[in-house]
Amino acid sequence: MESEEVWDTKVQQFHGGQDWKYLENFVEDFSVTTNALGTPKDALEAAKEAIYTCHHYPPGNQEPAKTSLAKFLWSDDYSSHKDRLLLGNGASELIDLVTRSAPFGTWKPGPWDTQYKEYHRSAETNGRTILQPQDTTPANLLCIVNPCNPTGDYKNINDLKYWIDKNVEDGGFVIVDESMQPWLSSDFRTDSLLSQHEFLYLLYETRRVSVYVIHSWTKIWSCTGLRLGSVICPTSAHCDVLKKLQVPWSVNSPALAFLNAVVKDTEYMEKTWELTPKWRSELIERLRVLSEAIIKAKDDEGYEWEFHGKSFLSYIWINMKSKEIVEEAIGKAKAAGVPVRSGVPGYDRPTYLRVAVREPSKVDILIKAWSKLGRR
Ligand SMILES: Cc1ncc(COP(=O)(O)O)c(C=O)c1O
Repeated sequence: MESEEVWDTKVQQFHGGQDWKYLENFVEDFSVTTNALGTPKDALEAAKEAIYTCHHYPPGNQEPAKTSLAKFLWSDDYSSHKDRLLLGNGASELIDLVTRSAPFGTWKPGPWDTQYKEYHRSAETNGRTILQPQDTTPANLLCIVNPCNPTGDYKNINDLKYWIDKNVEDGGFVIVDESMQPWLSSDFRTDSLLSQHEFLYLLYETRRVSVYVIHSWTKIWSCTGLRLGSVICPTSAHCDVLKKLQVPWSVNSPALAFLNAVVKDTEYMEKTWELTPKWRSELIERLRVLSEAIIKAKDDEGYEWEFHGKSFLSYIWINMKSKEIVEEAIGKAKAAGVPVRSGVPGYDRPTYLRVAVREPSKVDILIKAWSKLGRR
């Protein structure tokens, strides 16, 4: 079976991350945005231990994992906010849950060229009117992925607040997906909506605008198979609405045990902030050499690759300027056991692909596979 056939794209949204299972020579997955450091060891052990309790139901209140996450997000201030927090079976469950509970009407994505598609899928499935990213009409459900997957664009907190203010209707809902935001630095919380209690409170009090902040935790802690996400609601009453709709036990015992342990692994986070930008810039330098070789072989500057996205991110969105070269790159990466994410399915960007930041020894394999790219 080919990984492309895994999704029933007539009714499901395509996502990357499926190739690994179908490649006999699989080495590393460059097609997803997970942390290059791999799964944190202590948290993985905690999840393994929790398997032995699988004859019991998980806790209905998601504790103590939920409080542990609240402490990670707000440290000293956590008890004032933890009732606004709900965990989900991946962020995907919560994206759908909030979308279903939004007031009916229009939907608009972030202003980026393209963004993570589950928001669009859920809005369409729920019969909303879809507006284009550049439409200046305020929407009553606004969904921005910040930092954006796959493009790597990012609005700092002031620009984000301004954009929200201008693009939502009174009484509307806003979902801000900050799944990639914790990569920013050890100071990520200060540039995040996590710290904007006053802004969120006033938006609700004065305009009845409800802002939800979603995190997929399967990326920064590299646990996509476990399914772990969270949503921060504007008030605890909003959280109760979601709780009422959510199926019970949607987060299983291993995932809860994992979360409870991983938020205490400060060494893993320190290493993430240190190594991701370093490995990312080294990877870009090596890719630039490949692009220069193609320019030389074709004697055409039009083949100069563009590398998109903020330097702290776990992925690079690359415009190779040629559909044929992208197709060749995808085939060669797969054949070498290091699959990458095509820009075609879902994103409809045939000259683009997305590559994950990975440790240098794994990058060697990708670079070798691409050494003769564009010279068939
Ligand atoms: C920006 C963003 N949000 C949400 C998700 C959904 O993640 P999950 O359901 O695995 O938590 C993804 C997965 O790729 C993502 O990139």
